Amino acid sequence: MSARIGVIGCGWWATRAHLPALQANPDAVIAGIADPDPENRARAAERFAVPADRVYADAGEMLAKAELDAAIVAVPHDLHAPLARAVLDRGLHLLLEKPMTIRPPDARVLAALAKERGVELIIGYPWHYNRQVLAVRDAIADGRIGTIEYVSCQFASIVRELYRGNPEPYRDVLGYSVNPPGLRTYADPEISGGGQGQTQVTHSAALLFLITGLRPVSVAAMTEPFELAVDLADAVVTRFDNGAVGSLGSTGSVLPGHDEILDYRIFGSAGHILFDVNEGVAVIHGLHGEVHRLPGLPAEERYPDWAPADNLVDIVLGRGANGSPASLGVLTVEFVDAIYRAAREARTVRVGAEG
Ligand SMILES: NC(=O)c1ccc[n+]([C@@H]2O[C@H](COP(=O)([O-])OP(=O)(O)OC[C@H]3O[C@@H](n4cnc5c(N)ncnc54)[C@H](O)[C@@H]3O)[C@@H](O)[C@H]2O)c1
Repeated sequence: MSARIGVIGCGWWATRAHLPALQANPDAVIAGIADPDPENRARAAERFAVPADRVYADAGEMLAKAELDAAIVAVPHDLHAPLARAVLDRGLHLLLEKPMTIRPPDARVLAALAKERGVELIIGYPWHYNRQVLAVRDAIADGRIGTIEYVSCQFASIVRELYRGNPEPYRDVLGYSVNPPGLRTYADPEISGGGQGQTQVTHSAALLFLITGLRPVSVAAMTEPFELAVDLADAVVTRFDNGAVGSLGSTGSVLPGHDEILDYRIFGSAGHILFDVNEGVAVIHGLHGEVHRLPGLPAEERYPDWAPADNLVDIVLGRGANGSPASLGVLTVEFVDAIYRAAREARTVRVGAEG
């Protein structure tokens, strides 16, 4: 049996990550693609050899007509909620791109709907499938650094021109193998819900919650758009449910050709961990002078961008657990929403309560 997957949205990320993953997976069939943009749709159909009777302009029509076990939604942020809802209403497993939704109530509704329908909802965070990430998570869960008291995270990425509606300069560095991102997808706050927060802090925050098990309860933040219509640099301080405090910083200002940074420093009552995700280096400083360096991770394994689609196939075939569940997606949507509220209102806000 093959997993029959429908793909909604054939822009940059679907054609760069999900469709190649499905095409290469011997247990998957691309059972339908849907996109209202005729050029993106045609290029995707051609590149991934999707027969004409499986190509749709309208996602609703694909969901009504195609024989599907699961779907992938990779559309601009403002459309995540309605299209994910349509997939879940059909009782299909779903891989939904990050951020799960812009607004927290929509995320909570989707998580509840997936549960009610008895289907898995994966949120598209490739780092959650990185082997070092899982090893660091396990070390913390095993108590190797005691109780976490302080964390800091730095995430700096090459995004500024996407926020300016000018994706072309990043063609090589971001790999537009079939379709480039839409001009407004990341630049128009009505569509994206924000800049670095919605597009990048969503990654670094979700990964922090996955690795540490910490849950944020309150947030203070400053965000800065500089010349853009959306935030480029975000500085966040947060308190967690166990009393720990932490800081997350992020900017989209790294220039093409320069190294991006994703770096965690996690301090516990019995040790600390230095984890440079982008360099594939993780060092655990534990009790009794223990210094344990995890095996280095080859560059090509650090951002496993095919892993979420492969996880979806495994779930359909009943041979895998959800590696990036909706509960984490909801928490992260609530956290990002709290960042924007805290920055706008210049006060400390509670996560989830008001959003
Ligand atoms: N996980 C990651 O690392 C990662 C990386 C890049 C993008 N993303 C996410 O993927 C999603 C898509 O981003 P992108 O860069 O591919 O955007 P994009 O602008 O390149 O593509 C979006 C596509 O959705 C299509 N679309 C619009 N309305 C639609 C509808 N009603 N039905 C079907 N298709 C519709 C557009 O025509 C376009 O082809 C976003 O949520 C983004 O945050 C995730």
